[in-house]
Amino acid sequence: MKRTLGTCYYPEHWPEEIWADDAARMVEIGLTWVRIGEFAWSRLEPTPGKMTFEWLDRAVDVLGAAGLKIVLGTPTATPPRWMIDKHPDMLAVDLDGRPRGFGSRRHYCFSHDGYRDESARITRLFAERYGKNPHVAAWQTDNEYGCHDTTVSYSDAAHKAFQVWCQNRYGNIEALNEAWGNIFWSMDYQSFDQIGLPNLTVTEANPAHCLAFRRFSSDQVVRFNQVQVDIIRAHSDAPISHNYMGRITDFDHWKTGDQMEIATWDSYPLGFLEDRVGADDAHQSANARQGDPDFQAFHHDLYRAVGKGRWWVMEQQPGPVNWAPYNPAPMAGMERLWAWEAFAHGAECVAYFRWRQAPFAQEQMHAGMLRPDSEPATAYYAAKQVARELAELPEVAVAQAPIALVFDYDAQWSWEVQPQGQGLDYFQLVFDMYKALRRLGQSVDILRPDVSDLSGYKLILVPGVQTLTDQLKAAISKAEASILLGPRTNSKTSELSIPVPLPPQIDGLDVTISRVESLRPDMPIPIEGGGVVTLWREFLEGNADVQLRTQDGEPLLVGSDTLRYLGGYLDPVAMQGLLEILLQDQGLEVAHMPDGLRCRRAGDMMFVINYGTDPQDYQGQTIAPAGVYWYKSTA
Ligand code: GAL
Repeated sequence: MKRTLGTCYYPEHWPEEIWADDAARMVEIGLTWVRIGEFAWSRLEPTPGKMTFEWLDRAVDVLGAAGLKIVLGTPTATPPRWMIDKHPDMLAVDLDGRPRGFGSRRHYCFSHDGYRDESARITRLFAERYGKNPHVAAWQTDNEYGCHDTTVSYSDAAHKAFQVWCQNRYGNIEALNEAWGNIFWSMDYQSFDQIGLPNLTVTEANPAHCLAFRRFSSDQVVRFNQVQVDIIRAHSDAPISHNYMGRITDFDHWKTGDQMEIATWDSYPLGFLEDRVGADDAHQSANARQGDPDFQAFHHDLYRAVGKGRWWVMEQQPGPVNWAPYNPAPMAGMERLWAWEAFAHGAECVAYFRWRQAPFAQEQMHAGMLRPDSEPATAYYAAKQVARELAELPEVAVAQAPIALVFDYDAQWSWEVQPQGQGLDYFQLVFDMYKALRRLGQSVDILRPDVSDLSGYKLILVPGVQTLTDQLKAAISKAEASILLGPRTNSKTSELSIPVPLPPQIDGLDVTISRVESLRPDMPIPIEGGGVVTLWREFLEGNADVQLRTQDGEPLLVGSDTLRYLGGYLDPVAMQGLLEILLQDQGLEVAHMPDGLRCRRAGDMMFVINYGTDPQDYQGQTIAPAGVYWYKSTA
């Protein structure tokens, strides 16, 4: 597979006279793909039903004639102003019951049928017009579902649709009352049309109600996307994609992933470091110009799985962004490094966002590949260099990793609904394990929670999945790999209750969680052999062998060499120590990566990447800051 580069372009922002020159320059530096269209609705339909597609036809022609392949985005993330007059109740409603107004983007509620029909209509017009266009070689639905907190809406439309969703899930109201435990606080309902949304209650709403609403909200995104996919597919053979984001977990990406051929994501390492990685000040300061060395890698692995092997970076940070608390420029070479980290994880394409910095509106301070005066900016040169290197590079193949980590969106919601302690976050737990693995030099696959085939893996980590799927339970019971469960794995029923008999109830593991506690950050519990339990601890009973204890004598890790349960949230020292032992047990080679250095195996190629500000030595090679070193290795 030939790996490629691209960019995101907004022909509607620029005079038509410069399109051809822009296209020629894109080709000249080695770009293959250009994404267009995703915010252009107001210029395609300035008044209801009056279509002005001719300019987009010409843009497609000009870009295609230059030799570029086009990713065409449906423009449904930005409905025009007149749409709000037509459907005043289409706006999403926030937790406090206020409509989220017009004047930026993503101003719609996924449950609004009128807007869903409008989105189907514009998608159909796009698909009919460009479905057979030879230049349109891929599609993108909408833009960044869930961005700006837009998955969950407390609108009237959502309320009505939620009642129907509940009826479909539970069948009759007695079953719903039973499932949610509505006898508690006299919350019983007599009919589905009495069910409200779980906001604006006096104190916390029933967690089962909240979780049902989160599941419903996710399903609404999936359903919205399916409408567009079906229409596009009826008119085009080109692959369909959606651009996901970093640490956005409000809808089940595995389900939308199943609908489409390619998963893409938008990677902004410096923006994320400030507002999504969950890092402390020292880490942010040390990585301010490089980004967290693992956050992008985690999402590359996640979206490779969501895309069933086919994935891209659709938007690569090109320089300073505008939206994080602070927006420094990347260290020299990072725009190139980020692309290589993606290719090392198997990306088919890395597209830089955006071609030219726009001197107007919200993102005027966001860098592009070109400056507003069309002179090249740093990402232009980076892309040019990566294009040259890609041409020389041997094939980057992606093989199954020996280690897998399960990631479950449903677990994220149930942790959010009922965290039981500040700072307890499912994503963070999974990401902390992932980081520890990367520091130990490992390459990792991410698996979906309904995975049924675990063959080929040596070590599988399943932390925090509060309700194991039947498929995963069955797969665990016949797996040949070494498996680590916990903390909190299989601790709740699918309706967010405590199961009796008490959890985790795993075949082959004689352990019972007798009680749990959450801990203040200043209450660490030291572990025999080093490190501490922090934030969360479980008390383990049963006959399973104790492999590790806290210094107060309580079992922390129990089980056999192939199936273990961990009863606490480990700090980085303990996490790394434990994973190192598990890796070595499986005969996996462990490397203690120096600060900032990370590696990733891609088939028979090994990539070593330096995120640090100092040169680093690795196996006799000196790797400069922002340096990328690759070599053939079958070890
Ligand atoms: C993404 C979005 C783009 C642009 C970019 C700026 O989240 O998809 O349209 O806003 O961020 O960094």
